[in-house]
Amino acid sequence: MNRVIAVDGPAASGKSSTAAAVARRLGFLHVDSGALYRGATTVALDLGESASADDIITAAELRGLGFRVVGDAVVLYLDDSPLGERLRDADVTGGVSAVSALPGVRRWVNRSLRALATPDRTLVVDGRDIGTAVFPDAPLKVFLDAAPEVRARRRLIQRDPALEDLGPATVSAEADRLRRRDEADASRTADPLKPAHDAIRIDTANLTFEEQVDMILELIKDAALHLGPSAG
Ligand code: CDP
Repeated sequence: MNRVIAVDGPAASGKSSTAAAVARRLGFLHVDSGALYRGATTVALDLGESASADDIITAAELRGLGFRVVGDAVVLYLDDSPLGERLRDADVTGGVSAVSALPGVRRWVNRSLRALATPDRTLVVDGRDIGTAVFPDAPLKVFLDAAPEVRARRRLIQRDPALEDLGPATVSAEADRLRRRDEADASRTADPLKPAHDAIRIDTANLTFEEQVDMILELIKDAALHLGPSAG
């Protein structure tokens, strides 16, 4: 039994920010698996259209794409620098579902994620397949979901807190983009987006951010026996 809390769910379901807040409260490490798929996508974009999984992995390794534990944070590096905002650019978001559908890329990402799970750490890992494929024996699995329009509003505000045009057309265009990415992620053959059979499903539509964090903290308390003490 490992010490992993799996937080899965569709695009913009709040997985990453929720997982980060939970980890911060408990002194656990937060790992954003989507960041590594986004990092692999930046490498693929630099290589050009016909790059295979092998090409992407070779270039990723040559350029040192990978997570580093820096203090209490897990940070993604490429070319010896943290890969901050680049990961959220539209070309990366538009290309990531195709790159993450490549089984070779998934195997490479999964190896990197599992390597972080050393016995002295408790990890909160968010993604699409953490409870089903990467850590199927995680003692706690949560699946966060909400209607696409709800997620679209949150994503638009997250991207630009000063955004004033949150009219129906803007929200519905973003919701369509999220739906398309969810469909691509859920219909791929390799480890598709889906809740694990033993995941606790939480619909966040009517919850505040603090409420959803508190709910997971409660679930962790219940699972504490299996998670062991924090590595601090
Ligand atoms: O933040 P957002 O929910 O928009 O996405 P993300 O967590 O950054 O993930 C970006 C993309 O990576 C997803 O759309 C999936 O294609 C892929 N992904 C995956 O296939 N498996 C994971 N465990 C995490 C992400």
